[in-house]
Amino acid sequence: MSFKPSRGLLIKNNMEYLDKIDLLKLPKHVAIIMDGNGRWAKEKGKLRMFGHSNGVTSVRDVVEGADKAGIKYITLYTFSSENWNRPKLEVMAIMELMVSTIAKEIAGFMKNNIKLNAIGDLDKLPAKCLKELTAAMQKTSQNTGVVLTLALSYGSRREILHAVKSIAAQVKSGEIEIEDINEDVFEHNLFTNDMPHPELLIRTGGEYRISNYLLWQIAYAELYFTPKLWPDFRKEDLYEALLDYQKRERRFGMTSEQVN
Ligand code: FPP
Repeated sequence: MSFKPSRGLLIKNNMEYLDKIDLLKLPKHVAIIMDGNGRWAKEKGKLRMFGHSNGVTSVRDVVEGADKAGIKYITLYTFSSENWNRPKLEVMAIMELMVSTIAKEIAGFMKNNIKLNAIGDLDKLPAKCLKELTAAMQKTSQNTGVVLTLALSYGSRREILHAVKSIAAQVKSGEIEIEDINEDVFEHNLFTNDMPHPELLIRTGGEYRISNYLLWQIAYAELYFTPKLWPDFRKEDLYEALLDYQKRERRFGMTSEQVN
C-alpha cells in the first residue's frame, strides 16, 4: 500500500525543514541542472514531452520553496546550446511549452514579486518564444523578490567567448587598456554580470557532470548531485540540498583553522 501524505503533513514537513535551515548560512544563488525528464516519462511509458511538461510543476514548486527559504537567485538550465541538436519535434515542443508556461505563470510571478530573467543566445529562440519571454521580463522587471533566471540556448563556453570578444572590442576601440583586464572586468562582460556567483549547484537525474553550465561562475560552488529525476524534485528536495550545503566547510583555498 502506498502512503500519500496529506497536504497538512506536507506543509508541516516544510516547516520542519525550514526550522532546520540556518538562515544565516543560506546561499544567495542556487543554480540547477534539471535533468531526467525524458527518463521519467519513459519509465511511465509516455513520450519525452510528458516529462518536460511535468518538469514545469517542479519548477513552480522549487521556486516557491526557494522564495519561502529566502533564496534570492535561482538559475535554471532550461535549454542548452547543445539541446538544439535534439530531434526537431522535441525542440519545437519544448519551445511551445516555454511560451505556454510563461504565459500561464506571469500572473503568479507578479503576485509573488518574482523577477524573470534569461541568459543565453536568446536571439536563436523562435520569434514567438522570444516575444513572450521579453514581455514577461519587461513586466516583472520592477519586482524585487526572487530573481528567476532561465538559461536558454545557453552554453558556458559560448558565454565566455562572447565576453572575450566584447573585451577585445573594448581594447580595440581604446575604451580600456589590456592592463585593465581583470576578473571584475571579465565578469562584467558575462551574461550573469548583475548577479552573485551560485554558491550551490544542484544536478538532478543521477549524472555527475556540469554539461557546459556556468563554468566561470561555479568555480567555488558546492556541487550537489541527486538521482531524483527532475519531475519528481520538489521543494523538500531543495531543502535537503540546502541542509547538505550547510554542512560543508567552504575554505576557498584556505585551511580549516583559518576559516573557523
Ligand atoms: C533535461 O531532461 C531537461 C530539458 C532539456 C528541458 C527542461 C525544460 C523544462 C523542465 C521546462 C521548463 C520550462 C520553463 C518555462 C521553466 P532530459 O530531457 O535531458 O532528460 P533525460 O536525461 O532523462 O533524457
